[in-house]
Amino acid sequence: MNIGIIGYGSIGSLLVQKFADAGVTAPKNIFISNRSKEKLEGLRDTYSVCENNSECAANADVLFICTGPYQIMEVYRDILDDLKDDTLVVSLNEAISFEMIGYFLHHRTAKVIPSLTAEINRSETLVSYNDLVTDKDKETLRSILSSIGNVYELPESELAIASDLVSSMPGFIAAIFDVFCKQAEKFSTMGKDQIIKMVLNSLDASSTLINQKGLTFNEVVDRVATPGGITVEGTTVIYDKLPDIVDEIYEKTLEKSKTTKRKVITDC
Ligand SMILES: NC(=O)c1ccc[n+]([C@@H]2O[C@H](COP(=O)([O-])OP(=O)(O)OC[C@H]3O[C@@H](n4cnc5c(N)ncnc54)[C@H](OP(=O)(O)O)[C@@H]3O)[C@@H](O)[C@H]2O)c1
Repeated sequence: MNIGIIGYGSIGSLLVQKFADAGVTAPKNIFISNRSKEKLEGLRDTYSVCENNSECAANADVLFICTGPYQIMEVYRDILDDLKDDTLVVSLNEAISFEMIGYFLHHRTAKVIPSLTAEINRSETLVSYNDLVTDKDKETLRSILSSIGNVYELPESELAIASDLVSSMPGFIAAIFDVFCKQAEKFSTMGKDQIIKMVLNSLDASSTLINQKGLTFNEVVDRVATPGGITVEGTTVIYDKLPDIVDEIYEKTLEKSKTTKRKVITDC
């Protein structure tokens, strides 16, 4: 099976590395193109580096489009004449709808949203399919994507909110605990590194505890935040104030998805 990757950035390069490491296909069966050619220097001995997007598309049985949202439509224009009829096209951007892709291509198409945690083979990857995708395509894609972690098949309408829950979540988690650590420095003489180590280990251990013991978040809160104790003072603040902040996070990310979609349509 030939896999094409257009866009060798953060996600494109990660997928190439992971698909090759997992033996999804032979490295020379991975065809790569990127806007700036310098990024692809040094890859030629291992992979099939293409001169342009059309060459990449022409060789691919499954083609992953890993550019930013504002370049995706230009890529579809580039590859229109060279893409094989039976190539399964995989778009990596949530905001670009099947309807928009359909202006250019009438191919079997999937949308795939991986997470950064693919780096440790623990991506929570979202997948959605257009109406043309067959059961065999789904099986193929599941098999490719299971090399980087778990796969969740969802209707297209669920991808935006689900992206917040998995793809954006490592960023949200990192931002939340960055704030916890930075604010702790105001109340402590401990060094920053020690604070980060304590919080990070607590985060890791809490997650393992919840998973291993099958606990709910509320059960953990109940066991730590005993009435009249100290922790409950903090959890009360969280339950009081955080819901408004989280609502704002969801509202802003969902709105951003819509404005990206509108801008791409206007630019076309
Ligand atoms: N990062 C994540 O965690 C994540 C997770 C899920 C989905 N995604 C989605 O994946 C896509 C890529 O994200 P990213 O973080 O990998 O972005 P990125 O690091 O900016 O990479 C984008 C790559 O696309 C290349 N490119 C741009 N226009 C091109 C064109 N016309 N032809 C060929 N290559 C082109 C860029 O080349 P240059 O070297 O010239 O800039 C760059 O290497 C986005 O749509 C994003 O929403 C990302």
